[in-house]
Amino acid sequence: MNSEVRRAAQILRAGGLVAFPTETVYGLGADAASEKAVSRLYAVKGRPERHPVIVHFENAEKAFAWARDVPEGARKLAARFWPGPLTMILKRSALAQDFVTGGEDTVGLRVPSHPVAHALLAAFGGALAAPSANRFGLVSPTTAAHVREDLGADVDLVLEGGPSEVGIESTIVDLSGAEPVLLRPGHISKDELKAVLGMEISEKTKTSPRHPGGMERHYAPRTPARLVPSYGLDKAIAEMNARVAVLAFSRPDERVDYWLRMPREPQAYAQRLYAALRELDTAGCELILVEAPPETPEWAAVRDRLRRACGTA
Ligand code: TXA
Ligand code: MG
Repeated sequence: MNSEVRRAAQILRAGGLVAFPTETVYGLGADAASEKAVSRLYAVKGRPERHPVIVHFENAEKAFAWARDVPEGARKLAARFWPGPLTMILKRSALAQDFVTGGEDTVGLRVPSHPVAHALLAAFGGALAAPSANRFGLVSPTTAAHVREDLGADVDLVLEGGPSEVGIESTIVDLSGAEPVLLRPGHISKDELKAVLGMEISEKTKTSPRHPGGMERHYAPRTPARLVPSYGLDKAIAEMNARVAVLAFSRPDERVDYWLRMPREPQAYAQRLYAALRELDTAGCELILVEAPPETPEWAAVRDRLRRACGTA
């Protein structure tokens, strides 16, 4: 085993914080069984207390030990999508204490596929509470450098694992109730979940409880950002009298100070999205204009993150 991973596992056992790569975004990990470690995690993130955090495991068997009721659908989803970018909300067992569930009677479980995350979870042996490794409310990190920029010396170790492949946070499905509910869209689509479960999945309502991903301007850059339909982009640029940065599918326009061109394919777009928002955020502009992606199902997860970045969720 890699000595860096071994050192990381030791830090976690001692109640420390380790940032690590996952296939979605980088996570900030703490021993999910230690109240002290988790409360330090919340303090470093600047996250309000009583927000539930996702718990990460080496495999499905270890994950399901944290649930007291594992419905057939959860087993099917695990067999199909774990390890991978899917989080399931299930009724908790006694292992999932209030300080990770935010006092809810449910727990969020995830088995990541990134080899470094897997090696870390195997070396540590236990469960890792891990939100994205950024300060609360800001854009999630997709490289180790992003983590260092955001958290600096507040984290004991940052494991390197290259740029995250998926680029946006895991799909979250709640299986703790009578019917499955999609709480957060992601790389694994609602239709893929539906196909495996063989039943309809409803979508989160505005009133669903304590879900920071459901708060406005979560995942947001510091610079104000605005979503603009493709047909309105030219007009929006013409009307601007401030320094503006643009995130778009189309070619750069010379009236614009800073232009980032994005792929027309949703997976490639998602992979680049957070690094792009960070780059535009440091471009010294007063406004970020974002060309809206198509209103089709394959863009659902990207649209969700863009709406939040623009405070229009
Ligand atoms: O891709 C990901 O899921 C990343 C990587 C690091 O694994 N993690 C991540 O964690 O996005 P975090 O804590 O930033 O977002 C977790 C989301 C939050 O919106 C939280 O409210 C929700 O999952 N969540 C966790 N446990 C929950 C529960 N018991 N009930 C409802 N929502 C829950
Ligand atoms: Mg987050």
